[in-house]
Amino acid sequence: MKSLNNLTRFGLIVLCLLAMKISQAGSSENRHGPDSIKPYEIWPDQDGKHIQAHGGGIIRIKKTYYWYGEQRGKGLDPKYRYVSCYSSKDLMNWKFRGNVVKMLPPDSISAGWVLERPKVFYNPGTKKYVMYFHLDDRGYKVAQVGIAVCDRPDGEFKYVKRFRPLGHESRDIGQFIDDDGTAYLVFEDRPFGFRIARLSKDYMDVEKEMTLVKAHMEGGAIVHFNGLYYSIGSALTGWNANPNKYSTAPTLEGPWTEFRDIAPKETNTYGSQSSMLIKVTGTKKTTVIFMGDIWRPKTQYDSRYLWMPLEIGDGKLRLPKPQPWKLNIKTGEVTL
Ligand code: GAL
Repeated sequence: MKSLNNLTRFGLIVLCLLAMKISQAGSSENRHGPDSIKPYEIWPDQDGKHIQAHGGGIIRIKKTYYWYGEQRGKGLDPKYRYVSCYSSKDLMNWKFRGNVVKMLPPDSISAGWVLERPKVFYNPGTKKYVMYFHLDDRGYKVAQVGIAVCDRPDGEFKYVKRFRPLGHESRDIGQFIDDDGTAYLVFEDRPFGFRIARLSKDYMDVEKEMTLVKAHMEGGAIVHFNGLYYSIGSALTGWNANPNKYSTAPTLEGPWTEFRDIAPKETNTYGSQSSMLIKVTGTKKTTVIFMGDIWRPKTQYDSRYLWMPLEIGDGKLRLPKPQPWKLNIKTGEVTL
């Protein structure tokens, strides 16, 4: 009798384990994706394909993160420019939601044109998803932003217009959403430096300049952490990595401190270039993630990512040596 009981107990445990396994496999956000972030390596989405979201931006809608970026996968029609969209609940495991932009060159922009660094903002007032991107011709002379809009995070974004924000040249762009929800565009203005400007109420325009930082930097990214604003940017070296730098300020208007290296200079930011800073406010810890691109200009489809939690606080910021890590999205804690 006793041994039968033990057998039954064993059977029940096996059944429980099996049920857990099945329910894990069934939950769509957890299927095949990785449960850690591995800088430099292929980053498989849930279909096992390398994530194509370069020069990207991320927003959170309720508990879901959406990652938009340059779709540079193989076999695309070279006439078009594409923006991809992925979603995740934990920032590690991503589901491909489709290409949300497939666009021909607008108006008179010549062939070989450029659509780079897409960033999507969700406007709670209009309930629209508003995408900004760097729009340019082959020679990078147009220096404008383009806007495309959609009612859903992963629907087809419709191109609306292109312009120079506040009349200024704009090449690399970055997005920043402050803790109060206000949306800002960071843009590189070649003759002057980079600017941080607030979007209009409906996000369809760039309305108010907060600051001009007179430093020639691109790949601009900002985070608000413990009462200080930190901005990161890269030098203007095209696809080649360089020592990215940071500066801090008590308000977006400044004054901004001198720029300092975020990593040992000789590593050239460990071969990466900044695209965004993601703040995860957990129940135990607030983690700020450096989201960088490792460009492979000759095989763009194989460009990689360098995401690492930053050491940040008291006006200092450091990108640690890349290594695999895990994030607990609930607590905000990181395991290296
Ligand atoms: C980089 C920029 C990229 C892309 C590239 C083209 O400096 O950050 O987004 O524009 O130049 O050479």
